[in-house]
Amino acid sequence: MNNRSEFSSKLGFVLAAAGSAVGLGNIWRFPYLAARYGGGLFLLIYIFFVATFGFAIMMVEIAIGRKTKLSPIGAYKALHKKYSFIGIIASLVAFLILPYYSVIGGWVIKYFVTFLTGGQAATADDTFFTTFIASPVQPVLWQIVFVLATLAVVWRGVKDGIEKASKILMPMLIILSLGVALYSLSLPGAIEGVKYFLIPDFSRFSVQAVLAALGQMFYSLSLAMGVMITYGSYLNKEDDLEKSVKQIEIFDAGIAILAGFMVIPAVFAFSGGNEAALNAGPGLMFVTLPKVFDSMGMSALVGGIFFLLVLFAALTSAISLMEAVVSTICDQCKFSRKKSAIIVAVTAIVLGIPSSLGNGIWSHFKIMDMAFLDLMDFITNAVLMPIGALLTCIFIGYVIGVDVISDEIKVSSKFKREKAFRIMIKYIAPICIVAILISSVLSAFGIIVL
Ligand code: PHE
Repeated sequence: MNNRSEFSSKLGFVLAAAGSAVGLGNIWRFPYLAARYGGGLFLLIYIFFVATFGFAIMMVEIAIGRKTKLSPIGAYKALHKKYSFIGIIASLVAFLILPYYSVIGGWVIKYFVTFLTGGQAATADDTFFTTFIASPVQPVLWQIVFVLATLAVVWRGVKDGIEKASKILMPMLIILSLGVALYSLSLPGAIEGVKYFLIPDFSRFSVQAVLAALGQMFYSLSLAMGVMITYGSYLNKEDDLEKSVKQIEIFDAGIAILAGFMVIPAVFAFSGGNEAALNAGPGLMFVTLPKVFDSMGMSALVGGIFFLLVLFAALTSAISLMEAVVSTICDQCKFSRKKSAIIVAVTAIVLGIPSSLGNGIWSHFKIMDMAFLDLMDFITNAVLMPIGALLTCIFIGYVIGVDVISDEIKVSSKFKREKAFRIMIKYIAPICIVAILISSVLSAFGIIVL
């Protein structure tokens, strides 16, 4: 495996991994979770988890990749013959997330194009979103466009595709985010939203908020899906692993915070300080925000820029998901990159179709009272991801030993936090993961409300 592709620089790696981490999770999911679970308090809990637990798991995944120079299945197998199944779970999660992630990516393109072509007034209508996602053909076509855009990058490989795209898209994403956040902060009445988002209200502390922050941390940092293992396998032995992880996390948390600044103050300004407007949940970005944009003078421009930046974020994440699966197929089946990429793109399109139609003509098909897209989200994020993460911690902590990983980290980093890392992987992380797993399954069955 010595001819494996590598990122050309640490910067290239950090931008690609940050591109994976920064996605719909930051801009779509984070603001509505923060709004739901007490603003500043949620932010505080979230940052705490990113800096402790998230840090340890991301270090493990990237180290596994760099040590073995293999994609997830081969990587776990190289560490211990009997444990390749953990890699299978991880690759399966990426394989299953890509289709429905692309469906939502397609919606983002649709909104961007609508704003670009001057149709934004229609997006402010209450029924625009539901009518669009329920239609049988349009969302599928946009989903295909999104998958093809992802394929175009993965097709070109690690250096010329992923690294290049990340080096262009990520700086643009920062600039556009800053622009929209500043605009949102300049609106009259925005300051109340800033206070809500930044000042923790400890009276709203709840176990649910903690669990939601934990789950969000996993999703947002792209953990337990083989993605960081795959990107780690393209990382140079000389590049400082610990520092890279810090930078990726700062990037990820930074964009989540900026997204909070884009969305929460604008919604406050729009609703005249009425917190209830934030309770739109997943509809916050597709339903409430277009109304906010429409009510402000510069709607087409700001809205267009906003959806463009969401699109960049979603694309770089989808690229990492596709790459994790493509790299696995290349390694396992010895197929060429191009052949594997086409197989993955076609399956992502085909498997995405039920997720799309589940919002419309197939909406009567419900499993456990969930539409197909929600079901896929549940199986991957709430069940398989924590199981994969738990197995990883047990495998590293008790089967091969933490030293295997810390030795790899120390090849290029001082690793000052080694002691804390050890405790985290062996004791704290497994307990937290079991808590997420139990709570998300209980909430899916309606036994508790998350
Ligand atoms: N981290 C991405 C986000 O925040 C989602 C994602 C998950 C991407 C898993 C890749 C792998 O949207």
